[in-house]
Amino acid sequence: MTQPGFSGTFTKEFETLLRWRRDVRHFRRDPVPAGVLDGLLATACLAPSVGLSEPWRFVRVDDPARRHAVREDFARCNAEALAARDGSDAGDYARLKLAGLDDAPHHVAVFSDNDPAQGRGLGRGTMPQTTTWSTVMAIHTFWLAATAAGVGV
Ligand SMILES: Cc1cc2nc3c(=O)[nH]c(=O)nc-3n(C[C@H](O)[C@H](O)[C@H](O)COP(=O)(O)O)c2cc1C
Repeated sequence: MTQPGFSGTFTKEFETLLRWRRDVRHFRRDPVPAGVLDGLLATACLAPSVGLSEPWRFVRVDDPARRHAVREDFARCNAEALAARDGSDAGDYARLKLAGLDDAPHHVAVFSDNDPAQGRGLGRGTMPQTTTWSTVMAIHTFWLAATAAGVGV
């Protein structure tokens, strides 16, 4: 297979994509068009992984009860994090919008298999954390693809 060439225009736009990828905190509530999210998840799976182990596991969380359970878990963890901060910056921390859990129309939970059969352990004998890093690569790939598609993450 021959690698395609990338035009100068594309290269410039790619840098623009990297510059404009943002940690989005405010979300529209209407769903993204059908198929877009699945397409972005498929693109995320193009990420590199240790030994080609592809340890990422993306789970769409659509069920309202499950979304509520995630929200409750967040609230508990956030309260703990708030309690651990001293008074001077606790207010600032509380004002940060740390969760799109209420508004975002789609939730995706990402898990990482720490001992996947795929890849047969190649490359991670002395660095087991490389499976987690591989999953991080997939998240970043998803993030970039979503930004290019005009979808906030
Ligand atoms: C590994 C990682 C962990 C992060 N954890 C949090 C987090 O716990 N809470 C949060 O609000 N943002 C989190 N962020 C988002 C960063 O705060 C954000 O990416 C950073 O401020 C830079 O902003 P930008 O993504 O818009 O460039 C995380 C980002 C990364 C890459």
